[in-house]
Amino acid sequence: MNTPACLSHPVRRLTLLALCLGSLLTSRAAESSASLTLHADQPGAVINRNIYGQFAEHLGTCIYGGIWVGEDSSIPNTRGMRNDVIAALKQLQVPVLRWPGGCFADEYHWKDGIGAREKRPSMINTHWGGVVENNHFGTHEFLDFCELIGTEPYVCLNVGSGTVQEAMEWVEYMTSDASSPMANLRRANGRQAPWKIKYVAVGNESWGCGGNMRPEYYADEFRRYNTFVKNYAGNRITRVAGGSNGDDLNWTETLMANAGKQMDGLSLHWYTLPTGNWKKKGSATEFAEAAWMSTLRHTLHMEELLTKHSAIMDKYDPEKRVGLVVDEWGTWYDATPGTNPGFLQQQNTLLDAIVAGLNLHLFQNHADRVSMANIAQMVNVLQAMILTDKDKMVLTPTYHVFEMYKVHQGATSLPVALSTPDYVLGADKIPAVSAAASRDAAGKVHLSLVNANPNSAITVSCTLAGLTAKSVSGRVITSAAMQDHNTFSAPEVVKPQPFNGAKVDASGQLTVALPAKSVVVLTLE
Ligand code: AHR
Repeated sequence: MNTPACLSHPVRRLTLLALCLGSLLTSRAAESSASLTLHADQPGAVINRNIYGQFAEHLGTCIYGGIWVGEDSSIPNTRGMRNDVIAALKQLQVPVLRWPGGCFADEYHWKDGIGAREKRPSMINTHWGGVVENNHFGTHEFLDFCELIGTEPYVCLNVGSGTVQEAMEWVEYMTSDASSPMANLRRANGRQAPWKIKYVAVGNESWGCGGNMRPEYYADEFRRYNTFVKNYAGNRITRVAGGSNGDDLNWTETLMANAGKQMDGLSLHWYTLPTGNWKKKGSATEFAEAAWMSTLRHTLHMEELLTKHSAIMDKYDPEKRVGLVVDEWGTWYDATPGTNPGFLQQQNTLLDAIVAGLNLHLFQNHADRVSMANIAQMVNVLQAMILTDKDKMVLTPTYHVFEMYKVHQGATSLPVALSTPDYVLGADKIPAVSAAASRDAAGKVHLSLVNANPNSAITVSCTLAGLTAKSVSGRVITSAAMQDHNTFSAPEVVKPQPFNGAKVDASGQLTVALPAKSVVVLTLE
């Protein structure tokens, strides 16, 4: 229940009471105030940087065209990887990158992607558009890319159509420094020193495209594969078991009961569809307010998922050793008209910025259990950070939210007690304001706020407990229309702007005039 915060301000009570009553009678909530207490005096868990992780699959033009153009391309590149994309991603401080899929991972045979490129065999990418995969972007290219953008690799093994031997040899190839067959093969392919691979997933969506397994069967498969995922040369692997499809709590229960002791992480996948209907998901750009509301309602289901899956994990792992790894999340719309539907290409509007802000708050506020999250996907696919077309590149509203929120990476979370009006549309309502706060290593406190209401600005009165702030500065993402987005010809329609709507008064009270449909990040010093 969200208390109408306006009722708690005695001075303005009469005026605001009228507004509050009005809001009960109209479909568009006109309530305009919220309050929060930022508890800098109650530091919580450290926010795992990996919550800001990403995912790049051999799907559509995510890898080919989006990241990899090849060394002979006229598009400026470093060893085949696009320089513009590398530079943009470096700005985000991407902590971790999941690869090669997704559904593709359970059809991927890594030995096809090593050695001289012209000799690598091709395959058909049966999941994603039936196109030819020439394997030019393989293990060496991926790990080189991770080094170029400064991110940790997170490699997904093929359980669905692979073998234990293949998986074991891949780990040996990448991480062993012995004079062993796979380590020597790596050396012969030009890489002397082993790589460090911190994160390994044992299969993907094994309940579906990864093999249509039952949880009992997959739990045993996980235990078997995991036995042969070895730690070589001081490399310590965090082993992530394939987790549930959204609401499937039985999957989590069965995995935790049967393999909880063997795993370090358990994944969870949840996509936000405007309609909730896979056959007609909804348009990324052509939508009315009803779709804005339903998209946000579906995305906020993540809160219930995190709570319910965490509660099951708490039963088996009260010490919270096993992380909940949300390694696929984001919006999924109908593909951009005229594109290959198997390429999952979609635009990215201000609505996606709001979705990103809300989900990052949820992950951050569950920092005690959520150890990683990977938005799907990095370039040109689903809720992408970056869109490319030949030599052109554009940054999406989602990119800008990740860039603004990077201040939370590795910071200490600070609890926020929030009283917010609802955003109401017809019979639907969601909390209008969402917030999260953290203190970074330099002692600066960052408060991020989302106003999901597209119609009404909201004044947020903030009590800062245990913090004397002398100054506040910030940036905001908003735009005139809900559907606004960036294109190659108009790349800066939605981008962060300096924010002047926050003030700290003499008594230390912070007031934020949060614009309608906005994401704001403040720094308090
Ligand atoms: O991200 C696109 C696809 O969605 C992934 O390949 C799969 O794991 C999920 O169903």
